Amino acid sequence: MNHPKEFAEGLSIGIIMDGNGRWAKQRGLPRTAGHKKGAAVFQDIANYCEELGVSSVTFYAFSTENWKRPLEEVSAIMKLFGEYLLKGFNYKDRNIRIKFLGDRAALDAKLQKLMNELEEDSAAKTGMTLNIAVNYGGPEIVRAARQLAQQVAEGTLKPEDITEEMMSDHMYTAGQKDPDFILRPSGEKRLSNFMLWQAAYAELVEMDVLWPDFTRDDLDAAITEFNKRSRRFGGI
Ligand code: FPP
Repeated sequence: MNHPKEFAEGLSIGIIMDGNGRWAKQRGLPRTAGHKKGAAVFQDIANYCEELGVSSVTFYAFSTENWKRPLEEVSAIMKLFGEYLLKGFNYKDRNIRIKFLGDRAALDAKLQKLMNELEEDSAAKTGMTLNIAVNYGGPEIVRAARQLAQQVAEGTLKPEDITEEMMSDHMYTAGQKDPDFILRPSGEKRLSNFMLWQAAYAELVEMDVLWPDFTRDDLDAAITEFNKRSRRFGGI
């Protein structure tokens, strides 16, 4: 579809990739088959966001709560994640900045190395920011509070001088624009610890399609829905 430039240009979008398990179950397949298809959709939708001129897109790949899943499923998701980081995108030749949100210390050392390299290699790129949230969730806010508390303990910061901006600067998304809207497919209506701080004024767009079935047309529909919303940011 051809869109006017202003359709999606400059938008910041958060995406909760949900429904992989249900998609697989509907087809009598193992849950991991849903993640495999979901990962391919992730890549296509990330590419499409770049084509549309989106300024940043954040995908929720693995939450701090997802460790509760069977080891086999966790391993399959991590394996897919590694595969896509290695060969999914032609990162080096593209103008995308890649950032990983979340506590990577708990991840496999090889994966961490790859993540660090991708971030460093793409840090100076000026195009779309692609955030991938892995081992990410509410602990982001606790981490920010601890970092500021540490400064207070060291005597370099007074509690009364702590501002919202300082909190934002201690999130994994430091320096980035907050999401304009958060998209959750699969019919669920929860944030599930996704961008809790950054989503304060985000519009929530939920859709009935399962993530592995999600298409470029669905993203068009979500953006069209967002563009109809009237955002007042607490004003009138
Ligand atoms: C949620 O669906 C999906 C996940 C917890 C994992 C998402 C991971 C990928 C798409 C693959 C790896 C990531 C990248 C970036 C390549 P669910 O399993 O909770 O679905 P359900 O609610 O239907 O069970």
